[in-house]
Amino acid sequence: MAEREQWGSRAGFILAAIGSAVGLGNIWRFPYVAYDNGGGAFLIPYLFALLTAGIPILIMEFTMGQKYRGSSPLTYARLNKRTEGIGWWQVAIAFVISTYYSVIIAWALSYAVFSLNLSWGSEPEDFFFGSFLNASASASEMGTFVPSILIPLILVWAVALGVLFKGVKRGIELANRIIIPALVIMFLCIVIRALTLEGAMTGLDAFFKPNWEGLLKPSVWVAAYGHIFFSLSVAFAIMITYASYLPKKSDINNNAFITGFSNSGFEILAGIGVFSALGFMAVQSGVAVDEVAAGGIGLAFVVFPQIISTFPGFNEFFGVLFFGCLVLAGLTSLISIVETYVAGIQDKFKISRTKAVLFGGGLSALISLIYTTQNGIRVLDTVDYFINNFGIAVSGLVSVIVLSWVLRKLPELKAHTNEVSDFKIGGWWTFCLSVVTPLVLGVMLVQNLITNLTSNYEDYPTGFLITFGWTVAVLAIVFGVVLTIIKWRTDKNKLNQF
Ligand code: ALA
Repeated sequence: MAEREQWGSRAGFILAAIGSAVGLGNIWRFPYVAYDNGGGAFLIPYLFALLTAGIPILIMEFTMGQKYRGSSPLTYARLNKRTEGIGWWQVAIAFVISTYYSVIIAWALSYAVFSLNLSWGSEPEDFFFGSFLNASASASEMGTFVPSILIPLILVWAVALGVLFKGVKRGIELANRIIIPALVIMFLCIVIRALTLEGAMTGLDAFFKPNWEGLLKPSVWVAAYGHIFFSLSVAFAIMITYASYLPKKSDINNNAFITGFSNSGFEILAGIGVFSALGFMAVQSGVAVDEVAAGGIGLAFVVFPQIISTFPGFNEFFGVLFFGCLVLAGLTSLISIVETYVAGIQDKFKISRTKAVLFGGGLSALISLIYTTQNGIRVLDTVDYFINNFGIAVSGLVSVIVLSWVLRKLPELKAHTNEVSDFKIGGWWTFCLSVVTPLVLGVMLVQNLITNLTSNYEDYPTGFLITFGWTVAVLAIVFGVVLTIIKWRTDKNKLNQF
């Protein structure tokens, strides 16, 4: 096997890990999840989830990748032959995510262009669902392809795959070195402007005002844990893959804390920016903040255009800046998501990076076309919901149980990370991974199963949910099994040399 590629420097690795973590999830997802779940009070379960699950799993995945020096499937196979399937399952989850993640970036790219003349006019909602997405009337109508989304989508894939062709150091690392500083500067401009708008304090008050009763609701804790996995890019193969490109003697614990805190810092900053702007809108339109806020995709593509149009000046500029941020944050995450299967295929089938990018990225790009149909937004919403709740969260649960209780690998991993790291981790880490995380994720799984077996997500038809929700989540597992059965093209002796 050719020498494994490596990051050029420690900063390069950290930037790439932060680039993966900071993504669409931070900008459009976090603010409304926090808002829906008790505002300021949500920060408590959120920080708890970060410290008891997010960072401990991040340390676990960094350690696995660095110690076993392989893509997620190879790392799991080296850990124990019988666990290779977990690696492929996580790769499959990443593959599914890449198919729709690219589409949201493509929408953001279109909106950066629309900002130049505020094309959404006075009815951003009609514009988004009607003129732009041409959404079909109901979930049972797939409709036709919408060509206007195709062009930005092709561009997004061209950039992401272009970076991946170049490899770890000259592609991924270089892209992150350029994009992350640009993103931070652009985002800070928006947040500072938002903070100085009239009504900003009203918005911040709504965001930070603690609703203590919320802390008693299990759903709030489930939301915090659910969010942290997607946000930190853990449990779907990314961080194992990125850490596999670290030199043998590089720090893990400190890097994991830097990555985790940077991601949360950015996320809280996004919440501050978004809520200052919502406060401004609320004051302008004379309504309460909770009446101007809409969750999810609507927040970014409906409420934001509205906010941008109401800005006191330089509307077009702030529009381009905001959607530009979404594009940049999204791109660095998409690159990391695709790299999981590029690395997996390369390791298993002993093919070149170029072929792996062409095959894996090409296939995902092809599948992403489904979301450019008139029913695309509903398919996207469903796939995203199911792969998060029945993919990422469950693979996280399985991996911590297998590592801590079945294989009892935590002491070995802890010894490894403590040997290479600037500071040592102790009982906190073991306790979180073997007790807290399995318990919370277990309860979360049961609760999600009950909710989804007794009611239809977003009231979509059952057939639609079976096709795009349950089937996709189950197929990821089947894929894990099938790929495990296929033989390694890499020679057996080398497979165990790391
Ligand atoms: N961690 C990435 C995000 O937050 C996937 O969007």
